[in-house]
Amino acid sequence: MLTNNQNAQARAHTNIALIKYWGKADENLFLPYTSSLSLTLDAFYTDTRVKIWDKPYDLFVLNGDIQDAKETEKLSGYIDLFRDLANYPVHVCIESYNHVPTAAGLASSSSAYAALAVALNRVFNLNMDQKQLSTYARRGSGSATRSIYGGFCEWQKGHSHESSYAKPLDPADWDIAMIVVTINDSKKAISSRSGMAHTVKTSPFYALWPEICEEQLEEIKVAIQNHNLSAIGEIMESNGMRMHATALAAYPPLCYFEAESLQVIQAVHFLRKEGYTAYFTMDAGPNVKILCPYSQSIKIQEQLSARLPKAKIIISKAGPDAYLLESWDYV
Ligand code: DP6
Repeated sequence: MLTNNQNAQARAHTNIALIKYWGKADENLFLPYTSSLSLTLDAFYTDTRVKIWDKPYDLFVLNGDIQDAKETEKLSGYIDLFRDLANYPVHVCIESYNHVPTAAGLASSSSAYAALAVALNRVFNLNMDQKQLSTYARRGSGSATRSIYGGFCEWQKGHSHESSYAKPLDPADWDIAMIVVTINDSKKAISSRSGMAHTVKTSPFYALWPEICEEQLEEIKVAIQNHNLSAIGEIMESNGMRMHATALAAYPPLCYFEAESLQVIQAVHFLRKEGYTAYFTMDAGPNVKILCPYSQSIKIQEQLSARLPKAKIIISKAGPDAYLLESWDYV
């Protein structure tokens, strides 16, 4: 029975997509129109503890703050997936800490739902393997599918709950880093969720998106296999801009760029002219992520700081798989 595992805690790291997930074919099951590919980052993660308790309700505490009814209800709906599967209708208390510096302006939903899925799997004794875990992480947030694995990983779009999962590709334990440049840490004006839905519905360019991703996914996988960082970067940069092109063509248009985003992009172009291997990508917000060799990252960081003194710049290596934590060190 379940008495042995009344508590479980897990850690999962954030990931950044090189080939983007942008659009759902099925909004309930979180089935994407395209497969995607990401790099999990070491510097940013979420720790989550799930505790089964005897109270008649679920509680959700994030970074020490009890969350409101709306947030808790959203999470309860997610926990129901595990309760139903285990056929064990108990309530839980969830405590989560995001080690995604607020100023980094990174989405924490990828690490949040991956950590939660790993902890719930344990507490409900479901014995899911990583592949299955990734399908359940997906049901909380699409990008969480990929945070079950470290390094480079692919989320294969599939066509049903079971067939849409992540697959590890390469641990990215070679000379590689991602630099996160935060120019604005205020909450996103338009979330990824509604941004992608609006794009699918109104952008005439969206019809091209699945074909683009399919092609670029194959190309980037070859580049990863060859550890060819400039080829990886070139494809990533193009895919990111094409995603933004679909959003810019939505009606009304969606523009996630700010003036400083363009300054960072110009800085990347300048760095390349100077001989650095640096490529950028952007998600549903104004911040910019730069892929480069780890061995060049400090120099690149210095150059960027000189040009953008107000930006917060964090270097990260590739991160590991999501995993259970032995102990819980928060008070
Ligand atoms: C632009 O995973 O945050 O970062 O599935 O609705 O929770 P939901 O969306 P989310 O979308 C991420 C979109 C992206 C690209 C990516 O991470 O692939």
